[in-house]
Amino acid sequence: MQITLDTKPFVGTETDALVTYLFEDSEPINGRVAEVDAASGGLLKKLARSGEVTGKTLEFTLIHAPAGLKAARLLLVGAGKKDAFNGATLRKVAGAALRYLKARSVKNFAFLVRENGATADAAQALAEGFIAANFETDKYKTDKKNGKEIESIALMGFAEAEKSAGEKGLAAGKIIAEAQNFTRDLVNEPSNKLTPRILADKASAMAKDAGLAVEILDEKRIAELKMGALLSVAQGSVEPPRMIVATYTPANVKPGAPVIGLVGKAVTFDTGGISIKPADGMEKMKYDMAGGATMLGAIRALAALKPNVKVICVVPATENMPGGKAQKPGDIQTAMSGKTIEVLNTDAEGRLILADAITYAKQLGVTHIVDAATLTGAIVVALANVNVGVFGSNQEFTDKLLASAKASGEKMWPMPMDDEYREFIKGSFADIQNIGSGKGGGSITGAWFIREFAGDTPWIHLDIAGTAWNDDAKPWLAKGPTGVALRTLVHLVQSY
Ligand code: BES
Ligand code: ZN
Ligand code: ZN
Repeated sequence: MQITLDTKPFVGTETDALVTYLFEDSEPINGRVAEVDAASGGLLKKLARSGEVTGKTLEFTLIHAPAGLKAARLLLVGAGKKDAFNGATLRKVAGAALRYLKARSVKNFAFLVRENGATADAAQALAEGFIAANFETDKYKTDKKNGKEIESIALMGFAEAEKSAGEKGLAAGKIIAEAQNFTRDLVNEPSNKLTPRILADKASAMAKDAGLAVEILDEKRIAELKMGALLSVAQGSVEPPRMIVATYTPANVKPGAPVIGLVGKAVTFDTGGISIKPADGMEKMKYDMAGGATMLGAIRALAALKPNVKVICVVPATENMPGGKAQKPGDIQTAMSGKTIEVLNTDAEGRLILADAITYAKQLGVTHIVDAATLTGAIVVALANVNVGVFGSNQEFTDKLLASAKASGEKMWPMPMDDEYREFIKGSFADIQNIGSGKGGGSITGAWFIREFAGDTPWIHLDIAGTAWNDDAKPWLAKGPTGVALRTLVHLVQSY
């Protein structure tokens, strides 16, 4: 799918469909859309007056052979109230328009940005919206509904003077959304086609393509480094674990500059281990590697965007299986840091593998850590599938990430990290235990467990258990993996 920017006048453009958006207003046909209306002899105003066209969010009006236009179709998409309109709305409008037209076998369309809207940010949001919306999860279907492919999109409404900014935004949006789809493709893989070893191979191939340094630690190296927490999860499976490390080093990095560690949980399948999960819905646990896939996608995008910040991505990869050698509730493990852990529930495995990954990242010299993990069912209870849960040890760093989330149009919500919750994971027979002894607060005790290993290094934990997977298709996104948090992380790194 090709996306280009076209500064030609939109009224005379030949295309399968001209797409634009309306605001919910007493007169939704205004501004640039009034120009379209004038060309087509007042049809749009008539539709608005009759109440058929209102501008309500994601209301679609498709007009065939619109008079006065060279476009074969005119598609109007409601964008809701103008005051609430932002990049996130534009991204959704763009994505929903693409999926709407693709379903109707349209091949090419032009998307007209509204007056005063032709900015770099808008071009970036549009590219992101289109490319993410174009992703399908039909990789393993033999009947792929062939022929339904969007071939080209032209962004219109940019003046000559706005062209270079628009093209910059467009290029960035392509890089970021393609990385997001790379992440989603990994998350979509079932566990028989994505073992820790296969994930490591795919990460190596990506890193080589992107020009990143990559190092894969195998089970022998992991044992030499005494990563007892990671090994304890892996020991129940016949598939060996891997620790994946990809590094982006900018050309000129100032001495003393921050080094960002992106650490992502990659449990390629989580049965729960001996504390086994119920059968119902267990198939979804193939997405328990979404945090790792997100970090790999983020560093892939950063390799192309080339910010002036060093980034080290560390992804611990393993299965969590109840094999004959599996760890058992009550087992005490020694993490790489030397801390001892009572494993009271083998299903709280994400925090175990992140513990060693964070210790290793610190050894590699990171000054700031963000981890992403499908860590707890409790975050789904707290925030449903709407917000990513954000836990931090350093207010300034956390605020910076929340600002990046806002700028990237990703919903994230700060969660409390009071010391009282830390008491919940004090061990009875070892230093700490891997589940809380109090009632409730499961996503917070999970975060506190990880924080014990981050120590004084500014750290943020993103619990993406509720948001990394769409149980139902959205008008702008297919059912399945979302690639959530990637855009925020890329923005965060770029903001240094
Ligand atoms: N991978 C799960 C978390 C999860 C649950 C993700 C539901 C997506 C949907 C994690 O490893 C887990 O099992 N966590 C336990 C922790 C508990 C034993 C303290 C949970 O949330 O139930
Ligand atoms: Zn688990
Ligand atoms: Zn898990």
